[in-house]
Amino acid sequence: MDTQNLFEKFYQKYWNRNDKPVLFFSPGRVNLIGEHTDYNGGFVFPCALNYGTYLLIRKIKGNTLKLSTLNFTDDVETTLNGLFVNTVKKWINYPLGVINEFLKKGVEISGLEFLYYGDVPNGAGLSSSASIEMVTAVALNDFFKAGLDTLELVKMSQRAENLFVGMNCGIMDQFAVGFGKKNHAIFLNCDTLAFENVPIKLDGYSLIITNTNKRRGLTDSKYNERRGECEKAVELLQAYKPVRNLSELKTDESDILEKYIKDPVVLRRAKHVISENGRVLEAVKVLKNNNIIRFGELMNLSHDSLKDDYEVTGKELDTLVYEGRKLPGVIGTRMTGAGFGGCTVSIVRKADAAKFMTELSASYQKQTGLTPEFYQPEIGNGAGKL
Ligand code: GLA
Repeated sequence: MDTQNLFEKFYQKYWNRNDKPVLFFSPGRVNLIGEHTDYNGGFVFPCALNYGTYLLIRKIKGNTLKLSTLNFTDDVETTLNGLFVNTVKKWINYPLGVINEFLKKGVEISGLEFLYYGDVPNGAGLSSSASIEMVTAVALNDFFKAGLDTLELVKMSQRAENLFVGMNCGIMDQFAVGFGKKNHAIFLNCDTLAFENVPIKLDGYSLIITNTNKRRGLTDSKYNERRGECEKAVELLQAYKPVRNLSELKTDESDILEKYIKDPVVLRRAKHVISENGRVLEAVKVLKNNNIIRFGELMNLSHDSLKDDYEVTGKELDTLVYEGRKLPGVIGTRMTGAGFGGCTVSIVRKADAAKFMTELSASYQKQTGLTPEFYQPEIGNGAGKL
């Protein structure tokens, strides 16, 4: 990213070169394994990317907020006067939701000029939303000396998304973009929020993200439907023991599920969550022993479970995954994020990476009519001032 150019764009938009804005960055994230477990109090294993959202921000006199982005054309100018309400200009709801969280805490915010630029694709399951939220949160925390720690900023960003944007996500995305560490993934227990940074040493292998480029129309409603099905499972399991969430059941308790959950759909959802938690635990263990091959197998099993039991994949993701697995040097490949479109994440032997991209691109185009995009990201740090 050419940040000099971003400064130039800022001055073109807001004038006054004598007062330099401050640059912040927040990454996107890719989840390596542990999908649809966060809102079930389970384990996840995401890492922050070197792609994300840049924010140039400057204080101005008065109480006007001017928000602009290089990604969309709709700029907004608004006045600080109590809490904001949701707007039709979609991207603006992410910063406004976060500003509201600061206002609710009694942080005094005054006039500001914002210029955002994101290089993580929107709506692709790489947390462009959490990235905008967290970059706003770290900047406001810094500018208005709010003294909030990263965990609080993560929770405020999640609340902005849940309450203001209206997407009932778990905590994984905001946590990953807040706590990311270069060359490490985050092994997070979403119930206790205890976490560990685990080094990712992929000697001889590459991490490749493939974008289906399918628009994710129904994601939010399907996502909420899955959450509801998991809540139903927890309700039914009360006859067994007073569990708070599905992750309180261990992998070896799966026969319990069949005894208490008669609805086959709800049963499959619960099975996925419990088996996925087991896979994350094993994945972290084998990675620490440098067993990339087993790590890849667990990624494959994760995808199969998301397809068969959780039913959040779809033709495009499945084509990328199952065509990908036929290619040489592919150690593991799975969907990442909420599903129904978005991206896959794969571990591919470095020597085979170029072939993987050309051959997968051809077979995917043939089967879906869509052109995929490939990214070979680095694992970066969490949100902060640059
Ligand atoms: C989305 C949500 C996350 C998580 C994933 C699925 O990315 O924002 O909280 O639930 O889907 O693992």
